[in-house]
Amino acid sequence: MQYSQTAKKLTAEEKLKLLVSFGTRISAEIRLDLLLNSIAQQITQILNVGRCIIFLIDEDKQELWSKIVQGKGLAYTEIRMPLKTQGITSHVAQTGETINLHNAYEDPRFSMAIDMVTDFRTHSLLAIPLKNNAGKVLGVFQVLNKADGLPFDHNDEGILLLLSTLASSSIEIATLYQELYGAQLETLYRLAITAEYRDQQDTRSHLKNISIITYLLAGALGMSKHDMEVIKNASPLHDIGKVALADNILLKPGKLTPEEFNKMKEHTIYGGKILEGAKSKILQVAYKMSLYHHEKWNGSGYPKGLKGEEIPLEARIVTVADVFDALCQFRVYKSAWRPEDAYEYILQESGKSFDPRIVAAFKKIYHTIRKLYLPSKATLVQESQEQKSSVPTEQTIRQATQE
Ligand SMILES: [Fe+2]
Ligand SMILES: [Fe+2]
Repeated sequence: MQYSQTAKKLTAEEKLKLLVSFGTRISAEIRLDLLLNSIAQQITQILNVGRCIIFLIDEDKQELWSKIVQGKGLAYTEIRMPLKTQGITSHVAQTGETINLHNAYEDPRFSMAIDMVTDFRTHSLLAIPLKNNAGKVLGVFQVLNKADGLPFDHNDEGILLLLSTLASSSIEIATLYQELYGAQLETLYRLAITAEYRDQQDTRSHLKNISIITYLLAGALGMSKHDMEVIKNASPLHDIGKVALADNILLKPGKLTPEEFNKMKEHTIYGGKILEGAKSKILQVAYKMSLYHHEKWNGSGYPKGLKGEEIPLEARIVTVADVFDALCQFRVYKSAWRPEDAYEYILQESGKSFDPRIVAAFKKIYHTIRKLYLPSKATLVQESQEQKSSVPTEQTIRQATQE
């Protein structure tokens, strides 16, 4: 995580105050991205430098990663580099030694790549290892451009080492938390695939598209980033109740008889039963989605025939995403619709099947959603093995919805 500031000289007393509050502020943050951002921001102020970049080691991939801002107002982008190179950051990460340079550009180990993409000019540089209590190197703290133009001295090295020591256990805990959260999401996603797998060959793209569309819809409706994330992660479970349907109903190639259709409708009830009373926020939202995703705004849906705002908002959102994507996908009983036709259908059903407010939000983001259905994007959304096993990240959504 990188943070830059325009230099402001701090008094010794202000510096001390910041140091004292450092530990308290970082121990309150469990989310890794926000924690790293907070650490980088505070170090920038305490040491009065132009920039602080925190690199962490990814053991599995043998890489160093960080997040940087590319230009003003743009989102953080993850950057990665091999752990074992001749570069400065690699050297510190591998040896645990400190590197202190007065003029970084004169050192052949210095790479200008980050400066170039971020429109920044590094002068002085201090890089120290981030170690845990057992002395294992977890990453590298880098500070650049001391505000007074002088080289970094022993005092700066001491403060940065102290700050990294204070930060290391918070970073370890947040990393662990992120891994556990990732494992939880992966499990939920694989569970959702299990439910959809029996009757759809293109399960993954259906679930990924639904995640992305619900995420964008929640954003267009003005929901918080946190709620957008929850909705995105819960939406693949909307049809979890299908696991309880018999093959002769779920896999029947022809038209269902009225009795069979009634059985089919029960997947909503089963979904509700499976997820009822869940403790996690994602599963609580998934419960509402699975039980109510076939309710209709005008009250003609099932299982309860709820009307208007009686239907939970999360279910009203996933319904629009589910119907749109199902129409665009090939099924044994129908060909794939053109997105434009599916879009027209969604608009026509405003106030009938769907909440008009959500249809209005859908209209706003349709130009972005449309990009998911361009031939080149179909492969992009189901790219790597890693991406196959989890709901799309914010970065994947950005990639998938770019021209
Ligand atoms: Fe369903
Ligand atoms: Fe579905």
